[in-house]
Amino acid sequence: MNKINTDNFLILIVDDVSHNLQFIGDIVETAGYETTFATNGQQAIERVKQARPNLILLDLMMPDMDGIEVCSILKADPDYCDVPIIFLTASQETNSVVRAFQEGAVDYITKPFKNEEVIVRIENHLRLYIQEKQLESQNLRLQAEIQERIKAEAELKQKTTQLEQTLNELKSTQVELIQSQKMSALGQIVAGVAHEINNSSNFIMGNINHAIYYFQVFDELIKLYQQLHPEPNSKINNFIEENELNFLLDDCPKMMNSIKIGAERLDQIVCSLRNFSRLDEAQIKTVDIHSGIDNTLLILQHRLQSVGARREIQVVKEYAQLPQVTCYVSQLNQVFLLFLTNAIESLENVSGVIPTITIRTEAVQTPSLQPTNDSSQTIDFINIYISDNGCGIDPDIVPKIFDPFFTTKSVGNGTGLGLSISHQIIVQKHKGKIRCHSTPGQGTTFIITIPLTLPAQ
Ligand SMILES: Nc1ncnc2c1ncn2[C@@H]1O[C@H](COP(=O)(O)OP(=O)(O)OP(=O)(O)O)[C@@H](O)[C@H]1O
Ligand SMILES: [Mg+2]
Repeated sequence: MNKINTDNFLILIVDDVSHNLQFIGDIVETAGYETTFATNGQQAIERVKQARPNLILLDLMMPDMDGIEVCSILKADPDYCDVPIIFLTASQETNSVVRAFQEGAVDYITKPFKNEEVIVRIENHLRLYIQEKQLESQNLRLQAEIQERIKAEAELKQKTTQLEQTLNELKSTQVELIQSQKMSALGQIVAGVAHEINNSSNFIMGNINHAIYYFQVFDELIKLYQQLHPEPNSKINNFIEENELNFLLDDCPKMMNSIKIGAERLDQIVCSLRNFSRLDEAQIKTVDIHSGIDNTLLILQHRLQSVGARREIQVVKEYAQLPQVTCYVSQLNQVFLLFLTNAIESLENVSGVIPTITIRTEAVQTPSLQPTNDSSQTIDFINIYISDNGCGIDPDIVPKIFDPFFTTKSVGNGTGLGLSISHQIIVQKHKGKIRCHSTPGQGTTFIITIPLTLPAQ
């Protein structure tokens, strides 16, 4: 075992018999310890408070205040309770030793004292005392480290949450950016395509009515010939039979009609494409949004009424008190038309519920995102909720519904441009937002958010 360094260790020796003090003092000082002395209990307590010894050798039997009393006073004092106390006892006093231990003594030495025993016991207890102090300070350090770690972990958690939030915001900004870039690039292409389709369809639209008229003339002419010359010569008869003239005469008007329907459909598509690409031509006006919605509903009246097997669609209006809105008014009406048309179409094959479209509006005040000292400054928005209890949208296709030309409708029933046009108008032109909540089989709500006034473009 390592010898401990005795320098700077102060030992208090307490005994009412002065030659005992002298004797133990010599042993302890010879071993290199510093010493201080007391000859009674009261003095011992004072010395402890003055000099704060590292260890006390305390006589058990003393007049007035005995060693056990001194021990119990010191052990009750939080400032000195940790100073190790070794009792000095006569061999016949061993019964009191039990009480001494109960009061907190660490050891005892019986008289007559043997030099080595005294030193070994002192050393042992000082070593224990040092180790205990080291453990205590290590423990304190560990506790401080644990506290720091808990703090660091909490900070890390907070930072992670912040990062996750930022990442999510970034992701959604990125999606919006991609979407708007797609839109603006597409707008140019679409304008070109619309122009080309329009030129070509003009050939058809411009000529189809003439063609129908010319055919009617030929048809009448042939019938006139057949009336006036019921017995043509065999060459003409063979030609008529070979070419199935009667079938041709019957089929031709139907064919012309198909061409006309196709051309009209082309015209409609061109019109949509033009709306899509020429969005900046519309006028800015300050208007009542509700009257725009009501007008749109009027235009769609024929699709809301019951016809044949088709059931009537209920329209529920939950309009709030709204201020007027400055917007591209005809474009906004177009958006209402496109959303309401989608809602109507979602109700087409729905059974078990009363087909219903609900239109709800509300005004919202949001604190400005710009850093400003004026806390009262707000940006005002309007929310328009268009809900249906129709077929709903499969979660898998929700991310695609705003893509141009994405449609789940059969050929001829949808171009897939409605929502992308709406997105262009609301998000790009009005700096607003469109959100979609849908449950397949239960219905869909689109929330259109637009600012009260148009932000500078
Ligand atoms: N209210 C709705 N309920 C269910 N599905 C919807 C609704 N609105 C949109 N959708 C889905 O989103 C798709 C895209 O809609 P969008 O309006 O862009 O095109 P479309 O209606 O198919 O064709 P278009 O509007 O050009 O005639 C639709 O095909 C449909 O699947
Ligand atoms: Mg549509």
